[in-house]
Amino acid sequence: MKALVTGGGGFLGGAIVRMLVPRGDTVRTFSRGAYPWLAALGVEQVRGELDDAAALQRAARGCEIVFHTAAKPGIWGPYAEYHRVNVTGTERVLEACRSEGVRKLVFTGSPSVTFDGRDQCGVDESAPYPSRWLAHYPHTKALAEQRVFAANGPDLATVSLRPHLIWGPRDNHLVPRIVARAKAGSLRIVETPGTKVDSVYIDNAAEAHLLAAERLEPGAACAGQAYFISNGEALPMSELINAILAAAGLPPVSRRVSPGMAYAAGAICEAWYGLRGKKEEPPMTRFLARQLSTSHWFNIARAQRDLGYVPRVRIAEGLQLLRAWLAEAGDA
Ligand SMILES: NC(=O)c1ccc[n+]([C@@H]2O[C@H](COP(=O)([O-])OP(=O)(O)OC[C@H]3O[C@@H](n4cnc5c(N)ncnc54)[C@H](OP(=O)(O)O)[C@@H]3O)[C@@H](O)[C@H]2O)c1
Repeated sequence: MKALVTGGGGFLGGAIVRMLVPRGDTVRTFSRGAYPWLAALGVEQVRGELDDAAALQRAARGCEIVFHTAAKPGIWGPYAEYHRVNVTGTERVLEACRSEGVRKLVFTGSPSVTFDGRDQCGVDESAPYPSRWLAHYPHTKALAEQRVFAANGPDLATVSLRPHLIWGPRDNHLVPRIVARAKAGSLRIVETPGTKVDSVYIDNAAEAHLLAAERLEPGAACAGQAYFISNGEALPMSELINAILAAAGLPPVSRRVSPGMAYAAGAICEAWYGLRGKKEEPPMTRFLARQLSTSHWFNIARAQRDLGYVPRVRIAEGLQLLRAWLAEAGDA
């Protein structure tokens, strides 16, 4: 298989690349940066911005499949920038697929596209998009996903995977943030008793993308569909955070902030950072406060049925692998 992985130097994209290369697949990546470790794996890198149509066409040339993982994540920044990267970028990727005759596109979506600020307990893919968006990230990921579904057809088969809270070795988002805040003494638990969150170990999330790639073809059950992807082991957020801290050799965090306080702090942070035009992410936003204090766990039966997805690395094993990696990287 000749594959293009957008965001192939990133956390998830990199894990997909690391699974494709040993299978003998020819892999090309697309991102702004240059990644020596990709070069060492023999991966060809095309560098560019996601809204650069010509660069994306070059990147997609000769490929049978595109894994589109590149996106602007996070919870802070102007809507125009989120739209440019996540929506226009996805449109450009789809155009490149069409112009270069790519037959399959596996898009990395997000479960947050169904989050309306309330508990999500065992919801499946019939959950609608909310009528009001709490942040630009889920909004633009939903707009992108809609483009991906609309593009599905006889010449190009598309699918959207929605992994929830990916973690594991090489994590550049969740794990380093938790560890840095714990070390700075600023980490607090924001949790409503009884709530649980799903998460997914990095290799399971990457494998789901490969499984979708194998099953995807025009008219296949998964074509034009969305799939929640998780480990199927929902935990209280505090348990997950403390397990990650333990893997990093750090003591558990016990200091708590009530969801109401966190929401109010989020509103103040947003106003303050907005007024001062700050580019860095605030420590709290209203969206984050809602995410932290509500349940998010999903029914993955559809992914199991249509993709043959099985979360093979259980959380306990994943934590051991994370611990070993953090120790080797000098973080624990
Ligand atoms: N991590 C999670 O928990 C999670 C959960 C749900 C969904 N997702 C989705 O999973 C995907 C991958 O996320 P990740 O956690 O692997 O994030 P990541 O490590 O930040 O990877 C994203 C990659 O996209 C590339 N990229 C970003 N903006 C770009 C632009 N304007 N032009 C070209 N390339 C660009 C970046 O490479 P350069 O900086 O070199 O350009 C980066 O390597 C995203 O679509 C995200 O929405 C992630």
